[in-house]
Amino acid sequence: MGCEGGGLCANAVLSFFPNSMTTVIVILAAVIALIIGFGVSGKHSISVTALTSPGNIGQRSVLGCSFEPDIRMDSIAIQWAKEGVDGLVHEFKGGKDHLQGQDLSFQGRTAVFADQVIGGNASLELRDVQLSDAGTYQCSVTTARGSGAAVLRYRTGAFSMPVVQVEHGSHEDALQCEAPRWFPRPAVHWMACGDTGEHLPLPANTSYQLNPENITVKVVSLLHNITANATYTCVIENSIAKAVANIRVTGRARQHPETTGIGERRVSAVFLVHQGALAAAVSGKEGTESMANPTTSLSLG
Ligand SMILES: *[C@@H]1O[C@H](CO)[C@@H](O)[C@H](O)[C@H]1NC(C)=O
Ligand SMILES: *[C@@H]1O[C@H](CO)[C@@H](O)[C@H](O)[C@H]1NC(C)=O
Ligand SMILES: *[C@@H]1O[C@H](CO)[C@@H](O)[C@H](O)[C@H]1NC(C)=O
Ligand SMILES: *[C@@H]1O[C@H](CO)[C@@H](O)[C@H](O)[C@H]1NC(C)=O
Ligand SMILES: *[C@@H]1O[C@H](CO)[C@@H](O)[C@H](O)[C@H]1NC(C)=O
Repeated sequence: MGCEGGGLCANAVLSFFPNSMTTVIVILAAVIALIIGFGVSGKHSISVTALTSPGNIGQRSVLGCSFEPDIRMDSIAIQWAKEGVDGLVHEFKGGKDHLQGQDLSFQGRTAVFADQVIGGNASLELRDVQLSDAGTYQCSVTTARGSGAAVLRYRTGAFSMPVVQVEHGSHEDALQCEAPRWFPRPAVHWMACGDTGEHLPLPANTSYQLNPENITVKVVSLLHNITANATYTCVIENSIAKAVANIRVTGRARQHPETTGIGERRVSAVFLVHQGALAAAVSGKEGTESMANPTTSLSLG
């Protein structure tokens, strides 16, 4: 285009085209020319932002990173590095992975979303997350327009959804809240919300059992002395995640065979936001669990 000073170019053209629509188009064209001009020079910094949620041991995780998109895929280079690790975590350039410089500890566990790189997505997929993957990561991106980098702090642990069930004992029914994998060891607390809407913390018996991999624990919490027409909430929480499960207990006396008890179970979890990390939210409704069998009816007024 040979249009060095964008402003000059636009001014010159303006006088030739008094029509205002044309003016707008010409200004836009000049701006685009200017942007492309800067792109070719490649000396500028581009904005890169990183964001992540905690990693769950043994599972797949995404370390989020995005940058100003560039239409030329072959000019995009993405590098992921981790503080204290000699090799790279992952390198992607010219539309392909370049893993010669990859650190052994990440071998076979990383990928970028190649089809989304063109849209400015430099996120890293990390599989089989290890506790030791926690740390400070840097996402560096170079495009024809320039380069930039962002740093994120990645946290790891284990967390899982709890399930609340009714345990039928010989003289009383209890609620059991169970979750298969947590690390670090979480705190568990229960609350009850009755018809009057009060929210009281309740004493419960919580036990932790080490899983065979010797890191995570299975959490089982028992709440005795439950009453009908109340919603019970079990909260499991550690430094990286928080999970909440609810159960609604309704029912009438056990000795009336025609009566029924119905428990409606709702489970939801919200993983805590820490240090600007992205919140991962999970919620689900496990539907209505019917406990119509009189012998298994709940909490007898
Ligand atoms: C990148 O793409 C992956 C896969 O679709 C997605 O999970 C992730 O959230 C995206 N990240 C950004 C920063 O857009
Ligand atoms: C916890 O369990 C112990 C022994 O099984 C029992 O004595 C105690 O009353 C229980 N505590 C609560 C709050 O249920
Ligand atoms: C877990 O610890 C026990 C006892 O310390 C040991 O015998 C076992 O091999 C360990 N398991 C794993 C998977 O490390
Ligand atoms: C059960 O709850 C009732 C009412 O809240 C209370 O009066 C009673 O002491 C509790 N029993 C036990 C064993 O905790
Ligand atoms: C629970 O509520 C139902 C319907 O409102 C009522 O019939 C029942 O007696 C209540 N049970 C208790 C233990 O309050």
